[in-house]
Amino acid sequence: PAEPARAQDLAGWRVVVSAGPTREYLDPVRFISNPSSGKMGYAVAEEARDRGADVTLVSGPVQLPPPAGVRTVPIESALELRAAVLEAARGADLVVMTAAVADYRAAEQAQEKQAKVAGDVTVHLTPNPDILAELGREKGDRLLVGFAMETHAGVERAAAKAARKNADFILLNYPTRQGTGFGGDDNEVTLVRPDGTSDAWARTSKREVARRLLDEARRLRD
Ligand code: CTP
Ligand code: CA
Repeated sequence: PAEPARAQDLAGWRVVVSAGPTREYLDPVRFISNPSSGKMGYAVAEEARDRGADVTLVSGPVQLPPPAGVRTVPIESALELRAAVLEAARGADLVVMTAAVADYRAAEQAQEKQAKVAGDVTVHLTPNPDILAELGREKGDRLLVGFAMETHAGVERAAAKAARKNADFILLNYPTRQGTGFGGDDNEVTLVRPDGTSDAWARTSKREVARRLLDEARRLRD
């Protein structure tokens, strides 16, 4: 369905959105990843574009066409995501991290395909940099928004994350709710602030979540 016209209330804003999964290659043909569809981030990018913002979308591999009128930067690994986001974030007014960044990558990426061996194998993983936390350390007056999926103690954990990473707020969701979270067109999120306060939003489309996210960013900016 066509989206109703919105006021150009983000004209003059530079918005950076990260979306989708990262791929952490173990060898040239195998990687560690996750089922992030990218839909939430693409909805934020499209909504920001329609409200007049200059939008850069840093995207992992997803089954979605690059949105018209948005600068889309394709990446695969968390290290590539980091480089692209930090570059685009210079001079940005708002960075929204919806990307499902892999927490670890192979400590050593094999240059050749690894043949099967008899018995168990051990993979040595090393932590990826936390991009949201890095942006939070040099925040200035740039707004920072994160997403978090939790299975338990959601508000508490998301508030602690927002505080630790110096994000203005985090949108929390749960993997278990039918049709929401990974892959679905709807989302049921709770807005969580670093001070521990929160607002639960009723289940709605990812586009509507994007709209409210940007409304909240505008309120914080004013
Ligand atoms: N994030 C990031 N860089 C990472 C990991 C996460 O920028 N290396 C961002 C995500 O894009 C998201 C937010 O941080 O916006 C929260 O992600 P989450 O995985 O919930 O946070 P973690 O600190 O990795 O915590 P956990 O141990 O629960 O995975
Ligand atoms: Ca994580």
